[in-house]
Amino acid sequence: MKNKHLISITDFTRDEVFKILELAAEFEKNPSQNLLNGKVIATLFFEPSTRTRLSFESAISRLGGKYIGFTDASSSSVSKGESIKDTIMTVANYSDMIIMRHPVEGSARWASEVSRVPVINAGDGANQHPTQTLLDLYTIKQTQGTLENLNLFFVGDLKYGRTVHSLIQAMSMFNTTFHFISPLELQIPKEYKLYLDKLGLKYYEYRDFSEIANDADIIYMTRIQRERFSDPMEYEKTKNSYVLKNSMLNNTRPNMKVLHPLPRVNEIHTDVDTNEKAYYFTQALNGVYTRQAIMTYILGLK
Ligand code: CP
Repeated sequence: MKNKHLISITDFTRDEVFKILELAAEFEKNPSQNLLNGKVIATLFFEPSTRTRLSFESAISRLGGKYIGFTDASSSSVSKGESIKDTIMTVANYSDMIIMRHPVEGSARWASEVSRVPVINAGDGANQHPTQTLLDLYTIKQTQGTLENLNLFFVGDLKYGRTVHSLIQAMSMFNTTFHFISPLELQIPKEYKLYLDKLGLKYYEYRDFSEIANDADIIYMTRIQRERFSDPMEYEKTKNSYVLKNSMLNNTRPNMKVLHPLPRVNEIHTDVDTNEKAYYFTQALNGVYTRQAIMTYILGLK
């Protein structure tokens, strides 16, 4: 649908998800097209980012568009006390689409309610990260040949990990069996378990991560999200909970791939990087094609 917002992955139907994946495959074959010629896209990052911002900006540049924005709220008039509403209403006058990352959950939805141009959520607090999810789906399909009936293991910070929350909702469309490995303090929030319960999907929870992932199709590692902890001691307690090492992959399935939304701290040892099952840097590359697909689809150019 032209000019819709993308705030939560549930804003897209299953058909729309497949459409995005199909377009992303086209962009992978031919990433340099002039589809955004004459368009201005705003990238408003109130929180740090490397991959999301730069892959969006790379995607825009390769499509002949221009981008404006900021990488730090302190360089905008928000630092003088301007509200999100006023910021969005102003930036909507300067651009054809707004891509926004913000630390407050629900901020992207709020922005979409006051914006006259489409808003894309580039991560709102611990809530959702739908464009990451679409690139994750693209990567899973690319490596597994299908999205159906897979065994998906999530490891790490499942409480604050917004990429996990969005991906659970997306993969619930494909009869996934979910395995959640986390410290007790960082377990998957109840609302996502209820979501899976309602759909009758199977999920299992574990605290230990040693050999249990041998029947995984995907191991989705995550960083412990230090910036979300109110008590630094809690972070210290959990920060080294799981470290994936190369030797732990010896008995995993041949088709298995290790994904990670990145950035990584120490939850994947660097000795995994050269293993053919490590796929996180290609996953990050897929962000460019998938974000090209998302923007051109939302603007009705594809
Ligand atoms: N995956 C992800 O959101 O990475 P950045 O924080 O670097 O954008």
